[in-house]
Amino acid sequence: MSLGLVFGGASSEYEVSLLSVTSVLNQIDREKYDIHRIGITKDGAMFYYTGEDSRIAENKWQGEGCVPCVLSPDRTHHGILVLEGTPRVIRLDCVFPVLHGKNGEDGTIQGLLTMAGIPFVGCGTLASAACMDKVTTHTMLDKAGVLGAKWRSVTQHEYARDNDAFLNEVEHALGYPCFVKPANAGSSVGITKAHDRAELTDAMTLALSHDSKVIVEEMITGLEVECAVLGNEEPIASCIGEIAPSNEFYDYNAKYLDGKSVTYIPARIGEKESEEIRRIAAHAYTIMGCRGFSRVDFFLCENGEILLNEINTIPGFTSISMYPQLFIESGIPYSELIDRLIGYAME
Ligand code: DAL
Ligand code: MG
Repeated sequence: MSLGLVFGGASSEYEVSLLSVTSVLNQIDREKYDIHRIGITKDGAMFYYTGEDSRIAENKWQGEGCVPCVLSPDRTHHGILVLEGTPRVIRLDCVFPVLHGKNGEDGTIQGLLTMAGIPFVGCGTLASAACMDKVTTHTMLDKAGVLGAKWRSVTQHEYARDNDAFLNEVEHALGYPCFVKPANAGSSVGITKAHDRAELTDAMTLALSHDSKVIVEEMITGLEVECAVLGNEEPIASCIGEIAPSNEFYDYNAKYLDGKSVTYIPARIGEKESEEIRRIAAHAYTIMGCRGFSRVDFFLCENGEILLNEINTIPGFTSISMYPQLFIESGIPYSELIDRLIGYAME
């Protein structure tokens, strides 16, 4: 089978993608797949990459071994169009977009692949976009009765018209500390924990520099726990993982840079709580219309309440990332996980 692996991306999570795809390349069964690597730069330029795998993790893949290409939306091409010399088409039977955040996890490349008629790993356009936008996720899950943090949202336009009205509402409804987030973001980029009005104002400015819509959520005190979900119509949920962040919250530094966060797999929680989290994770996955895979993140509060935090439709996929680790613990090795994801894409 001819498999396209897309990596990089015009996203603040470009570097994470390089690490995720490196793990996929290291562990995928090369006998089963004829692999084509397609790199997208931070500026959004697309290249067919033929160099060493090892240069990807080092972010040295651009240049030698790189030929400009496009993922052709023309269904008769069914693949990528290499743009150097005489244009040629490389047929792809399936694509695994190993991309995180904007322009990859948000329904955009999923739309392009749908146009192209190429099956792809993971959620479709609607579920990807709905899970990327925290306001949409909260709205849909609130309606379905899935509990989450209290929240307020505002657009750049509304905020510019009357910022005091929004700040007052946040103080009244959510109090301090609260979390200020771009509605569309990933890996905690642009997120601030605000402790007072001055911090809240600065946090709003920062979040609005990443997105034209901002969500503010109440502070939740509880364990951060995560559940990996796999499948299409009848998804399975993994065991639960727990994150003990090194910073005040599990931010970009804690996730990728300082390496001090400790994870516990399985989480140090009771069997009853674990079962309930797995049930809610699979339920939320279905409500949001997810397919293939997603990692559902929760807070487990001291009073036993389980609050859904977010759904990551292309979760970090390095071999030490939570998603693969949760399924390894649940009995599915990494390379089999890739096979299953491709199988679900082809259904
Ligand atoms: N957004 C990162 C990759 C994650 O949630 O795993
Ligand atoms: Mg998360």
